Amino acid sequence: MSLFWRNFLLLAGLLTLTVLAWFQALRTLEQEPRALQSAQALASLVNLTRAALIYTDPIARVALVKTLVDEENVRIAVRDPADEHRPFPAGTLGARVAQALQDKLGPGTIVAREVNGFDGLWIGFAIEDEKYWLLADPSRLAGVQGRTWLVWGATALGLSLLGAVLITRVINQPLQRLAHAARRVGEGDFDGARLDEDQPTREIASVNHAFNAMAARLARAEADRRLMLAGISHDLRTPLARLRLEIELGVPDAATRARMADDVAEVDTILGQFLDFARERPLRTEPVALGLALERALAVYRARDDVLLTVRCPPEARVRADATLLHRILINLLENAVRHGRSADGLVRLDIEVQLAAAGSEGLVAVHVRDHGPGVPPELLPRLSEPFFRAEAARTTPGSGLGLAIVHRGIERMGGRLTLALADGGGLRITLHLPAA
Ligand SMILES: Nc1ncnc2c1ncn2[C@@H]1O[C@H](COP(=O)(O)OP(=O)(O)OP(=O)(O)O)[C@@H](O)[C@H]1O
Ligand SMILES: [Mg+2]
Repeated sequence: MSLFWRNFLLLAGLLTLTVLAWFQALRTLEQEPRALQSAQALASLVNLTRAALIYTDPIARVALVKTLVDEENVRIAVRDPADEHRPFPAGTLGARVAQALQDKLGPGTIVAREVNGFDGLWIGFAIEDEKYWLLADPSRLAGVQGRTWLVWGATALGLSLLGAVLITRVINQPLQRLAHAARRVGEGDFDGARLDEDQPTREIASVNHAFNAMAARLARAEADRRLMLAGISHDLRTPLARLRLEIELGVPDAATRARMADDVAEVDTILGQFLDFARERPLRTEPVALGLALERALAVYRARDDVLLTVRCPPEARVRADATLLHRILINLLENAVRHGRSADGLVRLDIEVQLAAAGSEGLVAVHVRDHGPGVPPELLPRLSEPFFRAEAARTTPGSGLGLAIVHRGIERMGGRLTLALADGGGLRITLHLPAA
């Protein structure tokens, strides 16, 4: 779930609850005064009616009752003890009004919502021994209407949710920018990742400032590293080349000369591995035909008679890769097989098999490189691709222990995966999983 939706839903939930609580509070607060007000008006009506009835003579009384009907929408009826009446349900505005009316007019007052099957606001009162019903307009009891509540509730909720969207966006935007910038830095683009430090919000400005400082420091470290690598490669390789020349010209003994030349060559190779590992060329991926890439890497080994190759690669096998990096990776694997994977008879048997992306393989093409050498103890398998790690048996051969680390990192940079396993029947089986093109 995105941060925006999480924050928005949390805020929306909170606001809905608040609006409902307000709604309930207002309703409660509104009912009490309304009940008292209604009760006061009804009590006055009852008292006035009673007084009028008492002090008018029987003839005028008819006219009075008619006027009450016409002007006040109030009817008077004689109350019979056998009349069936129903009170207002407890908790409603009607029940509160009834309670307030009884307080004002005396405990004998009856307030009903239905008498003998007729709905209305019925109030029973007495004049001396005669008992009467006063039927008033029930709309006197109607509270604020449901529709009004609904309209205002919806308006309040709508405005709150709009506010929630705005607030969530305000919170989110700097985080989004930060995430974006962090991604850029992760990809090595230090200049494109600058964040705005002139933010009105102090905390955001300070985070942005810290981030920019970090990116600047990383950029400087990266520049220093590049400079150092260029320096190493130039400053060490130039004297090395000079040394090689001096050995050729200045060492008279042929055997010593050859040994010294080998040593210089090894130093040069190790230096090359170091540089390969430390220097990250920008990646240029393109569709690469695996068959051709394999043949290019195998060319040298095909010429050797101590290397026996079996290659099975469907001609249509293509991967998305950086051709130079892939070549480097294949050479490292082949070199390892020659160096560490010789069979007991001193020959190097190499089986290379390419499997096209199958269902469930996440679109990855598998390149298996298997030798028939001694392999390694199984517990060391996960460590082989660590930089500078070399198994015990490899200590007698030249090398730096960076070959498989370069393979591992290169494969991951191209969006693939490296697996190391021991093959049935001995030997190491290395699989490169690369995105199909
Ligand atoms: N085909 C193989 N058979 C047996 N062991 C192997 C094989 N390939 C690699 N290894 C083991 O894994 C270790 C690490 O290999 P890696 O290529 O990283 O270093 P290296 O070959 O020793 O040196 P370099 O940096 O010159 O390649 C080797 O030292 C060796 O012990
Ligand atoms: Mg190696």
